[in-house]
Amino acid sequence: MDFKDQLKSSVDVVGVIGEYVRLKKSGAQRYLGLCPFHNEKTPSFTVHAARQFYKCFGCGEGGDVFAFVQKIEGIGFYEALKLLAERHGIAMPKRSLVADEESKLREAVFRMHELALDNFRANLRGPLGEEARAYLARRGVAPGTIEQFGLGYSERSWAALVHLLEQRGFTPALIEQSGLARRREDGSFYDYFRNRLMFPIHGESGKVIGFGGRALAADDNPKYLNSPETPIYTKSHVLYNLHRAKEAIRKEDRAILVEGYMDAIGVSAAGFGPVVASCGTSLTEQQVRALKRHSEKIVVNFDPDAPGAAAAERSVGLLLQEGMSVRIMTLDGDLDPDEYCKQRGAQAYRERLDGAKGYFYWLADRARARHDVRTTEGVIAVLKFLLPAVERISDRLERMAIANDVAEYIGVDRGMVLDSFRKAVADRRESRIELPKEAVRADEKGLLNVLLSDAEGREELIPRLCEIGILDRLATARIYRAIMAAHASGAPIAFDAISARLEPPDQNLLATLALAEGADAQEETIEYGRQCLESLLRSGERDRRGQLKMRIKEAERAGNLTEALRLARDLQEFERAGEDPK
Ligand code: UTP
Ligand code: MN
Repeated sequence: MDFKDQLKSSVDVVGVIGEYVRLKKSGAQRYLGLCPFHNEKTPSFTVHAARQFYKCFGCGEGGDVFAFVQKIEGIGFYEALKLLAERHGIAMPKRSLVADEESKLREAVFRMHELALDNFRANLRGPLGEEARAYLARRGVAPGTIEQFGLGYSERSWAALVHLLEQRGFTPALIEQSGLARRREDGSFYDYFRNRLMFPIHGESGKVIGFGGRALAADDNPKYLNSPETPIYTKSHVLYNLHRAKEAIRKEDRAILVEGYMDAIGVSAAGFGPVVASCGTSLTEQQVRALKRHSEKIVVNFDPDAPGAAAAERSVGLLLQEGMSVRIMTLDGDLDPDEYCKQRGAQAYRERLDGAKGYFYWLADRARARHDVRTTEGVIAVLKFLLPAVERISDRLERMAIANDVAEYIGVDRGMVLDSFRKAVADRRESRIELPKEAVRADEKGLLNVLLSDAEGREELIPRLCEIGILDRLATARIYRAIMAAHASGAPIAFDAISARLEPPDQNLLATLALAEGADAQEETIEYGRQCLESLLRSGERDRRGQLKMRIKEAERAGNLTEALRLARDLQEFERAGEDPK
């Protein structure tokens, strides 16, 4: 067994994928969730514990645990292997795997970020950090919170971090790629972050991938400086605080979305775990999908000012499009979420949170404040205002329900709302992958599942597959041939190994038979496997008899009596052999 197989057999595919996607048990070995790779309302993303495989029956994505981690983290095979090994405390063999250039670069950039984090944190604790500490104290950030969020301070001098990285042996090329330093015309480097309060930004798996740095002086621009794009940081994919918040998001089945780092920290410190921030950029599809993997419900809590409301409106369009259920939380007193928690207290924030209105009510309120719904023109203007958002709801029934609610809320005739939404309410179908249409017999499916799960059954039954007379006429013929070929060459007969030997249509067929709902309807025992094999053999015999009879008739019709007699004798013998109890 090579390291890959060894690691694979010691990690639990349901556990690993379950950290990224909320899964529900839906069979003895099957788990079901919403696909993280496409937008769907009804779960068709399947993880099978025993087969160590995932498959989405909506978009067709599928693979083993490494394929999943590669795809969801956007990393290569080597890194996925390393990530899983580290997470499970299994040492990587030094020589058996050689990292590719890209992985080596990323690894170095990760290490530089760890060093930078330690350096910034030490600065904040030490004499250099006096001013920053005072600033945090003034803003009411407790020492425990500073520790928890790994806050730090980047010093004033021009190249403190650069020197540290050079000392640790990082080459100028690597330092430049880290985004932690910039190169001057003359080739020398200077620190990207200077004299700033530092907020580490983590990837979902908890590694530091970038920083946000807040200016301490009021006239220092920009107020926040964020890491540039690097080999480990893609701004549009990351939500601040998601790695800490995801547990709470699942448990409470809702996320709170705020605008700023300080908001996320303040709200979290007030006792609200499921809070994430969008980091100043407008929300992206990747960020929404990352949230949706943990909960479909979100409360948007942006700043009370006009840009905040505009940002909320923009973000919400995207959230609806991705099928999220959205509520809007507004705060009074012109306070942002951080200030609100500090000035009014956690209890007041909780009341606001629990009283957050569904998005359409918030939008309708905004529209109503601008237009007079007692006039027809006013109603039309309000509907026009709401229409784009309604159009973005991907689910038809939900659009209908909302049209109803909105009608009642703004006090107009339901028919009128529905009329105006008609276009938007038109059906949009969720696409599904084309599954092979050929009928699969219960016995061929049953035998297949026994072969995939029972080692003893494989030893006994695979050698007998060649006896199945109708094997090549089964819908699963190529799957059985792949099993026989793997067995003959001594290769493993696990689900993914067989799947890897097939073309995509047969891969989908195999997944349907071995992973989809009802795949484990029968017990996968050796006894059941024997029954299935016998049933297939009997069909083969019946089939053979039918063929002989047909050929006898043909010979008779052609007047070839010798041939007809010979075939009749064959048939007789065949039937006698068939009756023979073994
Ligand atoms: P805010 O200005 O609301 O910042 O910007 P804040 O987090 O509430 O910070 P304090 O309370 O003023 O200290 C919201 C977010 O927008 C991004 C940052 O991510 C910030 O947290 N931003 C803001 C920038 O990226 N650059 C800027 O110059 C300003
Ligand atoms: Mn603020």
